[in-house]
Amino acid sequence: MTTALLQVSDITAGYRPDLPILHGVSVSVSGAEMVTIIGPNGAGKSTLVKAIAGLVPISSGTVSVAGSNVTNLLTHKLATASIAYVPQTANVFTTLTIDENLKLGASTLSKAEGARRVAMAYENFPVLQKYRSHKAKVLSGGQRQTLAVARALLTEPRLLMLDEPSAGLSPLMVSEVFERLKSLVSTGVAILMVEQNVKAALAISDRTYVLAEGRNRIDGPSSELAGDSQVATIYLGAGGRKR
Ligand SMILES: Nc1ncnc2c1ncn2[C@@H]1O[C@H](COP(=O)(O)OP(=O)(O)O)[C@@H](O)[C@H]1O
Ligand SMILES: [Mg+2]
Repeated sequence: MTTALLQVSDITAGYRPDLPILHGVSVSVSGAEMVTIIGPNGAGKSTLVKAIAGLVPISSGTVSVAGSNVTNLLTHKLATASIAYVPQTANVFTTLTIDENLKLGASTLSKAEGARRVAMAYENFPVLQKYRSHKAKVLSGGQRQTLAVARALLTEPRLLMLDEPSAGLSPLMVSEVFERLKSLVSTGVAILMVEQNVKAALAISDRTYVLAEGRNRIDGPSSELAGDSQVATIYLGAGGRKR
């Protein structure tokens, strides 16, 4: 068996030691996959990516990247573990320019290497070049998401984690953002994303995990889950609201 790029094994994690939110969750992502996590509100999806990113303490179980144990790794060391994390909100500095946002994202690199990668970001995302000296607050939702992703990629991660990248976007923008993420996978960046937009996520991703009440519920190829009555039940049953 080949080693997964990301292997989350049986983790228990929560904001307080006496109140676990995740109860033995396991997830894996291979190097060339787009994997989605779906589930009702409050299921623990954000908590899971935050725990992988070292923002929520893991009390048991392990997280490994390319075979190295990175459980409870300090967030500022994520880049050395080849992980980048784009949170759902506040993922760009709106009062700074696009250029300043990118330079901040490259601040852990040497000056020359940082400049090279920022130049590459402008090449890969021309919309950012166009607005480079504008404050990020002038960007649309989709453009902000592009900036957040471009910044996350500056550290050249092997795994990009995103929490609801489609939140607040128009349906047209959702498919645009998803297509762009999908094309990243073809360049060798694996993606693990949380999504509320279940239909679109199942359509674009390779595999999907359904979480409910802090536990693995169902997982498999997205194309199979799209036709799964249990998946429909979890959503139609929960109505997308808190239970
Ligand atoms: N910062 C926090 N402190 C304490 N509890 C939290 C915090 N954030 C989320 N929770 C709780 O953790 C549970 C899972 O939340 P979350 O991971 O945000 O769910 P999801 O992303 O699936 O909607 C919920 O019961 C929520 O109230
Ligand atoms: Mg969430």
